[in-house]
Amino acid sequence: MSFATQTLSGSKPEQYVQLVAQARALIDGEPDRIANAANLSALIYHALPDLNWAGFYFYDGTELVVGPFQGLPACVRIALDKGVCGAAARTRQTQRVADVEAFPGHIACDAASRSELVVPLVKGDRLIGVLDLDSPRVDRFDEEDQRGLEALAHAFLESLK
Ligand code: SME
Repeated sequence: MSFATQTLSGSKPEQYVQLVAQARALIDGEPDRIANAANLSALIYHALPDLNWAGFYFYDGTELVVGPFQGLPACVRIALDKGVCGAAARTRQTQRVADVEAFPGHIACDAASRSELVVPLVKGDRLIGVLDLDSPRVDRFDEEDQRGLEALAHAFLESLK
């Protein structure tokens, strides 16, 4: 199988519709969460501009453990009371942080990160982990990005058995 990244076009919401369709094409019929998280990380990282990290942390029943990602090596374990990722997992609410330096407890895995979007992954009432995007640009993520990434997270959750 070969995969050619298609250039996204149109408005940002239209681009996310195309990206979700590409994501579904990659993961449909494959229930393995590592495989799907790996391909989604690569898809997101290469499709969206101004990212320095895109990937997954999985909940092991106690804390978050790094999963497949694109970007520089990252912190391996994050307690639920730590960082933007911990806040997303603990509250089960998407965290959209315009300036990570103003977020108390932000964990700087990559000093280049300036803004962050973290979507909790919850299937039924079970916490699976989080989808984390970092940008070197302050205020990189707006509400349309949040909705788009929540749709991608939903597609990932649907692929899991
Ligand atoms: N900055 C995150 C930690 C994960 S890295 O960005 C990959 C946080 O504060 O939770």
